[in-house]
Amino acid sequence: MVKKKACVFISGSGTNLQSIIKSSRDYNFPIKVCLVVSNNKKAKGILFAKKFSIPYIYLNTNRQKFEKIIFQKLIEKKIDIICLAGFMKILSKKFVRNFKGNIINIHPSLLPKYKGLNTFQRVLKFNEKFTGCTVHYVNEKLDSGKIIIKRKIPINNKDNTYTLKKKVQFEEYKAYSSAIRKIFQN
Ligand code: GAR
Repeated sequence: MVKKKACVFISGSGTNLQSIIKSSRDYNFPIKVCLVVSNNKKAKGILFAKKFSIPYIYLNTNRQKFEKIIFQKLIEKKIDIICLAGFMKILSKKFVRNFKGNIINIHPSLLPKYKGLNTFQRVLKFNEKFTGCTVHYVNEKLDSGKIIIKRKIPINNKDNTYTLKKKVQFEEYKAYSSAIRKIFQN
């Protein structure tokens, strides 16, 4: 199959990146990770890019400059889809518009609930019985684009932010690959 070319944006540990790379080694998985972009030099995720010989860029500069340089690279490499995987910078409206419909993100809550940061703390504070993760298209508003897939988990009274993060991230790996398959199926 002809795979679509993906670029994954990260800022941190990159475990979702690792999971996407693993899925993409399957012949039938619709994308190939052709580029990894990090705004954080110390992002552990860069090590996965290195391990799998995927070109990567580290760039920590102001948003305008960052987006200008990265946009050029994406065009150069003919990237079809951008997967945000723990990328903790907000992309400008202009950048999102330029890639309209082709940027997806994973968020650690059941959107539209708990947009933004510190989701696990807030979920516990409000005594939610369930939480989970959502893969969605990125639009011009934070965590508000069309939902592709959600995965839900129960919360028990022993859970804390650490256990919830572990459980939710375990679901994220499945959710991200399923969402990518769903986007390109047909
Ligand atoms: C993931 O849990 C992802 O949902 C979250 O960052 C983590 C990155 O982990 N993203 C956000 O909070 C975006 N608002 P990873 O670097 O190990 O994939």
